[in-house]
Amino acid sequence: MINDKNLTTYSTSDVVNYYQYLQQLQPAEETIIQLFKHELPTMKMLDLGVGGGRTTPHFFPLVRDYIGVDYSGKMIQACQEKFTRSYPSIQFMVGDARNLSQFEDNCFDFILFSFNGIDYISHKDRLKVLQEISRIGKSGGYFFFSSHNLQAIEKQFDWQHHLSLNPFKTYVNLIMFAFLRGFNASLTYQTIKENNYAILRDESHNFRLQTYYVRASEQIKQLEPLFKDIKVYSWKTGLELKTNDDRISCSDMWLYYLCCIK
Ligand SMILES: C[S@@+](CC[C@H](N)C(=O)[O-])C[C@H]1O[C@@H](n2cnc3c(N)ncnc32)[C@H](O)[C@@H]1O
Repeated sequence: MINDKNLTTYSTSDVVNYYQYLQQLQPAEETIIQLFKHELPTMKMLDLGVGGGRTTPHFFPLVRDYIGVDYSGKMIQACQEKFTRSYPSIQFMVGDARNLSQFEDNCFDFILFSFNGIDYISHKDRLKVLQEISRIGKSGGYFFFSSHNLQAIEKQFDWQHHLSLNPFKTYVNLIMFAFLRGFNASLTYQTIKENNYAILRDESHNFRLQTYYVRASEQIKQLEPLFKDIKVYSWKTGLELKTNDDRISCSDMWLYYLCCIK
């Protein structure tokens, strides 16, 4: 079960600094800007889990209204320090995606939860977040987010996958494997293979975060009751993964999802 140790991690100064200096859009985010370039000027956008504001300078100038929200007060403070001088009308606020009661129903045209922000809460809370997003998003509006790909990490739990003809590479791989298994003692290759989602500690921020990994088919199933026209994108190429086979064979560590609010 994920508890708010993740919030503690997202409030520590080394992690806040890391996100504060990120600048580049990911290829799938560039795809979405191209796709919506004619609609963005009329859109009211919520940038959920805004972190240190990596996406802010890319989206703020393009949309009609922009609000950045994060549950880490330190991240919000970093955004305010970084942007309010150049963009005095910009809004940032502390808020938790699990309870967005500060926002009315049907008030956003475009909601972004970028770079896997949705993966730091429990399964039950994730479903609550999807409900909240469909409540505050306008019918016909869009939700775009990314989530870790269980398909991609699965192999890393198989020790045989780490063997290489190069002995040094094998040595380094097996050390990383030992860390992964050590931090996730209850998870085996077999249990991961048998499940559609799993919560685990990966190497990001030195195994300090509990992270939700999901298969694309399961993610689509979670979205279907509330959203339509669901599309999946490779984060690395920005290209749409149109078929189930495309998604199963994609080894990207996370995938982007675009969907329309019902
Ligand atoms: C991996 S960082 C990504 C930050 C930023 N979106 C980016 O792309 O650089 C995930 C962000 O989501 C935020 N986050 C995680 N769970 C959240 C929640 N329940 N409500 C709001 N923000 C959350 C974290 O504080 C963190 O800033």
